[in-house]
Amino acid sequence: MAYIVTGPTAGIGRRTALELAKRDTVILVGRDPAKLDDVRKTIERDGGRAVPIVCDLSDLASVRRAAAEIIGLGLPLTGLLNNAGIMQMHPTTNTLGWDLTFATDHLGPFALTEALTPHLTDGAQVVFICSSCEDPERRPAVIAGFRGGRYLSAEASARGDWAPGGSKLPGRDAYATAKQCNLATVLVFAREQPRLRFNAVEPGFNPATDLGRDSNVFLRAVAKYVLSPLAPFIKYWSNPRTAARVITRVLTDTSGGTGVYYDENGRPFQGSELVHQPEFSERVVAETRALLARVPV
Ligand SMILES: NC(=O)c1ccc[n+]([C@@H]2O[C@H](COP(=O)([O-])OP(=O)(O)OC[C@H]3O[C@@H](n4cnc5c(N)ncnc54)[C@H](OP(=O)(O)O)[C@@H]3O)[C@@H](O)[C@H]2O)c1
Repeated sequence: MAYIVTGPTAGIGRRTALELAKRDTVILVGRDPAKLDDVRKTIERDGGRAVPIVCDLSDLASVRRAAAEIIGLGLPLTGLLNNAGIMQMHPTTNTLGWDLTFATDHLGPFALTEALTPHLTDGAQVVFICSSCEDPERRPAVIAGFRGGRYLSAEASARGDWAPGGSKLPGRDAYATAKQCNLATVLVFAREQPRLRFNAVEPGFNPATDLGRDSNVFLRAVAKYVLSPLAPFIKYWSNPRTAARVITRVLTDTSGGTGVYYDENGRPFQGSELVHQPEFSERVVAETRALLARVPV
């Protein structure tokens, strides 16, 4: 049995990869070969088995290559964790001119999942790490400057265009929209593919990770050394160790639940009103497929 983990080189993904490696082989999907090797060595030192696969999720050609390499390993693929993600405070684009956050957080994981699902074993779990900031009614996210997902279309998101009424802070609309698209994908794929299970996890606010890595040094230090120790005592907050336990429980669950969104404690969670409207989530999936199909192989 093998679990695929994207973004295993830092934060929540690294912790989860180490946790999963106590049970089975872990396929480590990341963009930095040296960091991947470091995680592989840690896992092997503890008696586990890991296979690194280099993949830049913001680059479709790289995603397609990585999917082919994973399939070529010939391992029984029992789970896929779409964890890798970025939240840019200073938005940039990829080589196709696509918003880098939307490409990395939604388009790449979507393409990877579509390429791998036919090769996953029956009953395999596919888990997407989402974020409650997709919900414009979510109080803590609103206080942090988010205004929920601002989806117009997949093409508009790729261009970096967001629905009016969004955040005044750069990068927040891209992140919240990409995360809303993750959740829409889970809900639609769960309905489309009863052979597999698709679930989502909101890991809680984890101030110790590298997610806000392009914010200023002072804010990062405050997050790491001041906010992070407070996490166990604050509602909605968490840390990579706790998040990894919750995610591992969902990813290895065999009770058959699909289309469920879990909160930072592993309890069922709601998400925005919009994402639960089938016409919205199905439009997200159809438009994403159409956009990706236009990129030459
Ligand atoms: N931290 C929070 O408060 C929070 C809250 C809600 C949801 N989340 C979600 O949790 C997930 C993990 O985030 P985190 O907080 O653990 O962040 P993190 O510490 O920054 O880790 C992100 C991981 O994604 C990888 N990654 C980034 N861009 C990539 C790309 N183009 N191709 C391949 N891998 C890439 C990073 O690789 P490198 O090591 O090479 O950079 C790293 O392994 C994300 O989906 C995030 O949106 C986080």
